[in-house]
Amino acid sequence: MSNHILHIDSSPRGEDSVSKKLTAKIVEQLKSKQPDSTVTYRDLSTGVPFVDAQVLAGFWTPAAEHSEEIKKAVAHSDQTTKELIDADTIIIGVPMWNFHVPATVKAWVDLSVRAGVTFSQDENGYKGIVPPGKKAYVVVTTGGVPVGSDYDTASKYMHTIFSFIGVTDIEIVGAGRLTLPDGEASLKAAYDQIAAI
Ligand SMILES: Cc1cc2nc3c(=O)[nH]c(=O)nc-3n(C[C@H](O)[C@H](O)[C@H](O)COP(=O)(O)O)c2cc1C
Repeated sequence: MSNHILHIDSSPRGEDSVSKKLTAKIVEQLKSKQPDSTVTYRDLSTGVPFVDAQVLAGFWTPAAEHSEEIKKAVAHSDQTTKELIDADTIIIGVPMWNFHVPATVKAWVDLSVRAGVTFSQDENGYKGIVPPGKKAYVVVTTGGVPVGSDYDTASKYMHTIFSFIGVTDIEIVGAGRLTLPDGEASLKAAYDQIAAI
């Protein structure tokens, strides 16, 4: 069975980015197990559009009724949701910024969580509707906050979002406190976790 990977980074720190190194390592590890894996790569740090009135109009009206202007406005969300739906494995790098995810990741989430496309709603409540069987790896890096602690709202948020759209197999790969002495052990543990995939 082939594995299509959606590989997403969000750190703008280029070669210095720890989350980028870790997400790349996960891709490498998965490819070593399944050499025929294919990859779609997105770097959110180059910019993600915000959801505005036109995009919402596109979300909330049937596609058949969309004007050219609305089609253009929702095109980014169409692409983003398609990439999520098409992926067997999603790998996303999330550096902690001010105790949460970078704004680009939040903007990506706002384009991805879409009624009738990635979740549905009826009288019984909400349901994630991306095809089942996907796996998500969420790499969370921090300078001082321990990953998984009460101050780490980034890991919890990404877990909530993936669960909400129906991605229930979620593995958090955390490398925390990287600017502090114990950061080195945390980074080593993250690489060990990846090697065990
Ligand atoms: C704008 C900004 C905000 C940050 N906020 C936090 C924070 O709230 N808590 C924390 O522990 N580290 C914080 N950091 C440190 C980063 O999480 C840390 O450097 C991490 O390694 C970044 O991932 P990267 O190497 O992939 O860029 C912040 C860094 C930046 C640039």
